Formats: sequence, C-alpha cells, structure tokens
Amino acid sequence: AMITLRQLLDHAAEHGYAVPAFNINNMEQGLAVMQAAARTDSPVILQASRGARSYANDQVLAGLIAGLARAFPQIPLCMHLDHGNGLPTCATAIQNGFTSVMMDGSLKSDGKTPADYDYNRDITARVVEMAHACGVSVEGELGVLGSLETGMGDQEDGHGATEKLSEDQLLTDPDEAARFVADTGVDALAVAMGTSHGAYKFTREPDGQILAMHVIEAIHARIPNTHLVMHGSSSVPEDLQQIINSHGGDIRPTWGVPVEEIQRGIRFGVRKVNIDTDSRLAMTAAIRKTLTEDPSEFDPRKYLKPAMTMMAEMCQQRFEAFGTAGNA
Ligand code: G3H
Ligand code: 13P
Ligand code: NA
Ligand code: ZN
Repeated sequence: AMITLRQLLDHAAEHGYAVPAFNINNMEQGLAVMQAAARTDSPVILQASRGARSYANDQVLAGLIAGLARAFPQIPLCMHLDHGNGLPTCATAIQNGFTSVMMDGSLKSDGKTPADYDYNRDITARVVEMAHACGVSVEGELGVLGSLETGMGDQEDGHGATEKLSEDQLLTDPDEAARFVADTGVDALAVAMGTSHGAYKFTREPDGQILAMHVIEAIHARIPNTHLVMHGSSSVPEDLQQIINSHGGDIRPTWGVPVEEIQRGIRFGVRKVNIDTDSRLAMTAAIRKTLTEDPSEFDPRKYLKPAMTMMAEMCQQRFEAFGTAGNA
C-alpha cells in the first residue's frame, strides 16, 4: 500500500533503522527493488528525479508505480520526488500520485548555483504548505553536496554545484539546521556531511571514517525528531566495477561510501539513504557480461532479466545492512 515518507520514517526512527531510497527510471528497476523488498519483508522508498520523469513519461511512470503497489500489496511503498527544483515540479509530482516530494532549495532552480538561506527557506516553506495540504511529505536540503577532498560539486554526472565550495557550504551547520526545520516544517532533512553524487566520490580507498560523523551527531542532537537523509550514498562496489571493466567497460578507479559508514549514520538519526549509482552499476555489469558472453543474443529480456537480478541482489544487501528487513 502507498504511504507517506513521514509515516515510513516515523516507524524507522521508532525502531532504529533506515530505509534505502532507490532511484528508478523504468520497469526493470522498479521490479528489482520490489522483488528485493518482498524477499526481505522491507518497506520501500522508490524515488524519481526530474530526469527520470522526462525519460519515462510522467503518465507512464505514474502507471508503473500504481502497478507495483498493486503487485506487492503487502509492501508499504512511498513514492518520492528526488531533487525537486521548484513549486511546479513538486505540484505535478503530487498530481501524479507521489506521496512525498523533495524540494532541494540548497541550489537555485538551475540545479547548479548554491542558494542562500532565505531563498531555500522561502521556497521550501511554500512547498511544505502545498504538500501538507495534500497529505504529502516533504524533504528539504540544507548545505551543498560536494567532495570534501576537492571542494568540487557533483559535476561529474552533470548535476550539482559547478563552483568551488567552501568547507562551510559542504558541511551543514547544526544551528542553521534547527532554524531551517522550525522555519519550514519539513518532515525530513538532507544534510551535507561528506558525500557527493555519482560514481566518483573518493579517489583513494577510505581508511577509517570518511564522513563528517561529528556533524551528523551534532545535527541529530539539536533536532532529534527530524529524520535525516543521506544523499550520494552509493557504495560503488568494487566487484561491480570489475565485472564492467573486464567486459569492455572503462570505469576509472574509484571508491564510494562504505556500508559501515552508513550504519554509523543510522545510529545518529539517518533514516533515508539515497542510492542510484549502485543500481546503475549493477545493471550495467549484468548487461555487459551477458552480451559479451553471448554476442549472438538480441532479445532484450535475455540481458534485462540478469540486470534486474543483479540490481535486486544489491538492493537486498542494503535492506539487510540498514535494518530495513523485517519491517514491512
Ligand atoms: O541525484 C541524482 C540522482 O542520482 C538522479 O540522477 O538526475 O541523472 O536521474 P538523474
Ligand atoms: P548516488 O549517486 O551515490 O547513488 O546518490 C544518489 C542520490 O543521492 C539521489 O538523490
Ligand atoms: Na530525495
Ligand atoms: Zn541526491
């Protein structure tokens, strides 16, 4: 059944677990997440970006989600808009049946220019007013995602800040976070604490802690009732990189966020963990492998089914690692 982000994360907070939020763009990705959830008895957050909505067509995407909810009636399902950039995008998502929207006012509507506090507060408060009137939850974001290593935004995969960021911008300030939640009424808050979007997060193998865990801890202490969200939380598994590169691919050496780091975050109030890159890697690994091993194959089902299977395995691992399993 469809539920809101607030309902889902309240339960997660009460029981001390987090819910992975998987980006989907098509039927195969939607089915992969739902199959993994059914196998592990997990509640689900499916999220669609603006890019996903234009790729899949809004009407088709709405129909897909409704179909997934009907096919897996035992699984609580939240449908969330990822990185909304203004009131109209959030409003049309709600019209299409989304039960939760993200208003990302940390950047201007171009998705590239860091915004000031007042802009972020005003636009987010307006979205909250509209969404709550419709019974829909809202995630806000305070702080700009980017690499603490280089100070650069997420331009690697074509979105995120394009200017060099200061440590001040890259780490969410706990007092400002408390003010932002009070000013806007958001249900969940995405924070900046060392993660970035895409496959190229860290250039070296992380030794010890790589996230600014003291920032998460301080924010959680200031606003214990606000559900915290980690974006850019793919682990970029080495085995998937290897399958891709040994079947004609070319992924540069790279590291993501270790699952143990996310587990530390969950102890400090992280309840929603955004994952897109790991699904892309899993599907691409399976497709490259299948087509390399049998170059005569041309039935899309023959490579999309292994792609679904490999993505579902990754999803299952996250449901288990984040404590989501058993909570549907
Ligand atoms: O935050 C970005 C998500 O990974 C979605 O990416 O905008 O390419 O669909 P996208
Ligand atoms: P990854 O690129 O690490 O998968 O992050 C996805 C994300 O944060 C979507 O909002
Ligand atoms: Na989001
Ligand atoms: Zn994100």
